[in-house]
Amino acid sequence: MLKRNVPLHHLNTFGLPASASWFTTISTPTELAALIDTAEWHYLERFILGGGSNLIFTGDFAGLVLHVKIHGMELVREDSDAWIVRAGAGERWHSFVYWTLAHGWLGLENLAFIPGTVGGAPVQNIGAYGIEISERVQCLETVDLKTGKTVIFDRSACQFSYRDSVFKGDAAGRYLINAVVFRLPKLWEPLINHIDVIKELEAMKICNPTARNIADAIVAIRTRKLPDPERFGNAGSFFKNPVVDSATFACLASQYPEMPYYIQPDGMIKLAGGWLIERCGWKGRKFGPVGVYEKQALVLVNCGGASGRDVLALAFAIQKSVQAVFGVKLVHEPVLL
Ligand code: EPU
Repeated sequence: MLKRNVPLHHLNTFGLPASASWFTTISTPTELAALIDTAEWHYLERFILGGGSNLIFTGDFAGLVLHVKIHGMELVREDSDAWIVRAGAGERWHSFVYWTLAHGWLGLENLAFIPGTVGGAPVQNIGAYGIEISERVQCLETVDLKTGKTVIFDRSACQFSYRDSVFKGDAAGRYLINAVVFRLPKLWEPLINHIDVIKELEAMKICNPTARNIADAIVAIRTRKLPDPERFGNAGSFFKNPVVDSATFACLASQYPEMPYYIQPDGMIKLAGGWLIERCGWKGRKFGPVGVYEKQALVLVNCGGASGRDVLALAFAIQKSVQAVFGVKLVHEPVLL
């Protein structure tokens, strides 16, 4: 069942070189249960790998990589006010979104074309164009890797916040998500509050968009603005948009009145990391074999042959200059291994 010294280059969208001392694919919860019964299981460090789209390998991994390939998509039930839909963690996120839309189960359209798998999506609470996956998650079915028991996390147990969940914090590495259950309300309204989506629908000459129209518009925007990992390895936004308090914001806004910002429900202010990085002169710049994407400064790209160390060197240089110019700390978004 376990393979030795497996290259991981093709299993991370940044295309970084690394290998796993031990590697296995998990296609069913039964396979996982059998593995938990083996001797190796108890002495190897483990890492759970999904689509590798939010991951930076900083070197080889001396433990066991569990590559989650659990498939299946189904309607669990229809409530009076919602569709309850379940997908295996190994399903490709974007295919799942279009599958729901094809069945008329709406509500995930704004999250179209995000790379990665269904199981990885709640870990980093993917979000785009006005919505986060947390708003649609009913529960997560997981296996506790210590005990082998099934554990269900309802939405509140997931401790979702901006690009974060308990699975990036206290529960990291402990639970393997094998399926995600979504609640898609029947009462549907288009969510069109992002200027790029408004403009794209205008360009498509669509006044009363369907969910499918919105998904198609978002695919077009993302295709234009974000690098294709086949050409330039990347992990999407490398940094989170920083969130500051109102006093810090007032000080910055008086110096930079044109600075974009978003007031959060708790009164804190989210700044646009891409704007800060661009203002520091990084947009489109190369730094050895890595660079800052020319159309979106939050995204770092592999220009060819980069290692995890190269990525970290660039990230650190950017963090230093944003801190020096704006006094704002940028925090990386992907998981570093
Ligand atoms: N901006 C710049 N320069 C840049 C990039 C952005 O000035 O190089 C400005 C834009 O003009 C705009 C503001 O920054 O005024 C925000 O830009 P945008 O709406 O493009 O989104 P973002 O904040 O840069 C976030 C998410 C994206 C998501 C978009 C759209 C994070 C870390 N990133 O980016 O998510 O697609 O909003 O909702 O929150 C991802 O997480 O991988 C990702 C791509």
